[in-house]
Amino acid sequence: MSSKPKIILDCDPGLDDAVAIVVAAEHTDLIGITTVGGNAPLIDVTNNALLTCQVFDLEVPVHSGAVRPLVAEPLHAPEVHGEKGFDGPNLPELTRSVDSDDAIGYIIESARSIDDLWIVATGPLTNLAMAFEQAPDIVTKINGVSWMGGSAAEGNHTAAAEFNALVDPEAVDQVFRAGLNWLFMAGLDLTHQFNTDDALQAAVEAIGTPGSQMIADLMANYLNMMDNIIGVRSGGLHDPCAVLALTHPDLIERSMRHVVCELDGTHTRGMTLVDQRGYRDGVTPNVHWGHTIKSDAAKQVVISSVAAQSGHQL
Ligand code: RIB
Ligand code: CA
Repeated sequence: MSSKPKIILDCDPGLDDAVAIVVAAEHTDLIGITTVGGNAPLIDVTNNALLTCQVFDLEVPVHSGAVRPLVAEPLHAPEVHGEKGFDGPNLPELTRSVDSDDAIGYIIESARSIDDLWIVATGPLTNLAMAFEQAPDIVTKINGVSWMGGSAAEGNHTAAAEFNALVDPEAVDQVFRAGLNWLFMAGLDLTHQFNTDDALQAAVEAIGTPGSQMIADLMANYLNMMDNIIGVRSGGLHDPCAVLALTHPDLIERSMRHVVCELDGTHTRGMTLVDQRGYRDGVTPNVHWGHTIKSDAAKQVVISSVAAQSGHQL
């Protein structure tokens, strides 16, 4: 029996981060959660991570991290997730608190003391970049990083850039050049194949538990926001893809590619350029680029994970 991968989940909840937490709780050995400013300010995404652990009764330490990007000004996405990142559900009073406000130190200490550790990142890469800069030895100590971010095609927050990459392009550049053993990228070209819609929202709501109701209400708000923004009641369920790349590798096809992040372009800052030319002299592929997902099967993993983690057996 294969043991579950040991992971730290670095996130900025938001709906899809919350789903990633639940899928990780079901299918990984979730060692800890770290938070980073992104969808909403750090205090809010940290509270949202704590609330998700509280509602799903997860005994997982939560450590808050970087309040702002390495260089860029803070950027948030209230138009998608609400001012505090968790619009939709009637949330209970928060009774949980963080284990520390030193996510970077927690990542470094965990990487040095735990073998076979993976890091799944579903927000801006600021925490990882800072940890790797402070402790370069952990870059090759951990098994690798699976990141939801970037894109081989369209952007979302700009025509060229995906949100997580755009929030902190310098962090993406540093992590992509750090020399990791394994780096997986779930970009928009992959995650836009894995969309939530009213059918999935209803299937989650039908589970009938407090946890499933929270996720269903977050999804309903997300669908309303996407309807307002793009006129369609559908949107990428982005972040679980970074977990599934580790836990269900048969659901995501991938290829090796060389990927860089643009830092200076007037119109292209934050763009992740995926080199599709194949191997060229002097260009060493550094990323496992996810390009195709079995969406229906992945949705079943999400539904069963929410059910199992909220105390309901399908
Ligand atoms: O572009 C999508 C990504 O940005 C997701 O991780 C979402 O949660 C936001 O962080
Ligand atoms: Ca996220």
